[in-house]
Amino acid sequence: MVTLHQNRNIPQPVVLITGATDGIGRALAQIYHARGARVIGIGRRPAEEVSSDQRSDYCRVDLAQPFAPALVADVLRQRGVTRLDRLIHCAGIGSYGAVEDQTPEAIDALLDVNLRVPIALTHALLPLLITAHGHVTFIGSIAAALPAPNYAVYGATKAALEGFARSCAKNCADGSGFRLCIQAPHAPACTRNPACRPTASMSVAFHHPCGRRSGSCVLSSGTLR
Ligand SMILES: NC(=O)c1ccc[n+]([C@@H]2O[C@H](COP(=O)([O-])OP(=O)(O)OC[C@H]3O[C@@H](n4cnc5c(N)ncnc54)[C@H](OP(=O)(O)O)[C@@H]3O)[C@@H](O)[C@H]2O)c1
Repeated sequence: MVTLHQNRNIPQPVVLITGATDGIGRALAQIYHARGARVIGIGRRPAEEVSSDQRSDYCRVDLAQPFAPALVADVLRQRGVTRLDRLIHCAGIGSYGAVEDQTPEAIDALLDVNLRVPIALTHALLPLLITAHGHVTFIGSIAAALPAPNYAVYGATKAALEGFARSCAKNCADGSGFRLCIQAPHAPACTRNPACRPTASMSVAFHHPCGRRSGSCVLSSGTLR
């Protein structure tokens, strides 16, 4: 297949996806790979468990470690990456329960992986994003906007992420830097539970960080897993 960048003699787009080993992140990695992008996927599981077409650029790292953002930036440097066209923050955890039933460790993990990591990793990769006039995508959730019983901490992380993206987008409004958006999956797609695993096309709403909905797209026309 001749891809767009080969046809036009433009640099191959580089896309970094956190949480690329499962669920939405894995589906996106497959889509970008099929479109001819260089996909650098991040996850914790061993490389042998990653699909063979994405293994070569896979980066195994626990993003909850404090050094992870700097480590990822280092890995990209070592692999000769000088620009980043798209950074997609898909890694997330969704532990739930009444606040009083959640352990301090579970709360810390939610805050870490869902909130601190996307901000710190965006920050660490800004030079590469700015070079490419790149695009940062945060995967949000309806739980950021609605009262979601048993999802108070999770919803708080997603709402805070929206706040970060909204303000950052204002800074980038002159077009000189990078661009940001929030995407919230329309319907629960519980990838752990076969009963609600996405088996048909899955659509994702695009939200401009300032609140304006800017369209939607279909992630995949086939089974996501
Ligand atoms: N699924 C839904 O219905 C839904 C709805 C609204 C929002 N979302 C959001 O969409 C995103 C993806 O959800 P999903 O359901 O597709 O998730 P998922 O199937 O549970 O996959 C989570 C991914 O995140 C990675 N990950 C988790 N913790 C990590 C860590 N500490 N370091 C590195 N990687 C880590 C996992 O990799 P390893 O297992 O290899 O570590 C895996 O690839 C999340 O941000 C979620 O909050 C999902």
